[in-house]
Amino acid sequence: MKWSELSGLLLIGHSLGGAVVTDLARSGKLGNAVLGYAVFDVVEGSAIDALQSMQSYLLSRPKSFPSLSSAIEWHTRSRTIRNTTSARISVPPLLYLDTSLASSNATKKWTWRTDLAATQPYWQGWFTGLSKKFLDAKGGKLLLLAGTDRLDKELMIGQMQGKYQLQVFPEAGHFIHEDQAEKTAMVVADFYRRNDRSALILPPKVGDLLEAKYPT
Ligand SMILES: *[C@@H]1O[C@H](CO)[C@@H](O)[C@H](O)[C@H]1NC(C)=O
Ligand SMILES: *[C@@H]1O[C@H](CO)[C@@H](O)[C@H](O)[C@H]1NC(C)=O
Repeated sequence: MKWSELSGLLLIGHSLGGAVVTDLARSGKLGNAVLGYAVFDVVEGSAIDALQSMQSYLLSRPKSFPSLSSAIEWHTRSRTIRNTTSARISVPPLLYLDTSLASSNATKKWTWRTDLAATQPYWQGWFTGLSKKFLDAKGGKLLLLAGTDRLDKELMIGQMQGKYQLQVFPEAGHFIHEDQAEKTAMVVADFYRRNDRSALILPPKVGDLLEAKYPT
């Protein structure tokens, strides 16, 4: 970006992206610029447990869709994304029109851009050690969960020690920032404000408050 210095940053990642930003925060590569990091709907324990059912999930997913609207419909009907407006925006970029199949017969095939199954050898590594990294890295920490994941032992202890901010939106699905976009935005804005060192506003002194109320 050709910035002379990094401005204050918040790193935010969803699901696997949460593991990526946590790893980056823990590496310290961005120095003091990282004010904080937020992880959306991923907990090491549940993520590793879920890996076993990941292959069957991928097999149960349609391999392609006859149209973009049927793909959007599948995401909302299966409650993968519960917010229809959001699904209309975020599903189309996940797919591409596979012309090799379309030319073989008249059926159009919208196919997944990313071959998730091919990344299987890395799944375990993505999530192992995530809770420890999340607690150890420098900066404000926010964990936003949809309520289906349960805190693992390390996160539970960290929570009791007040090491991070935990927010749960039980009404949201895994795509928490899409299902509850406004609430997520408010939590993130608030998280930023509390970690923004440049705008540190200290509460008024009790003496000043008393002076304002009861001038001497
Ligand atoms: C088009 O090709 C696909 C894949 O080969 C096949 O599953 C589908 O039945 C074909 N559709 C028609 C209308 O022939
Ligand atoms: C649903 O998604 C749209 C588009 O992202 C967003 O404007 C809206 O606030 C979302 N709904 C909720 C309840 O968050």
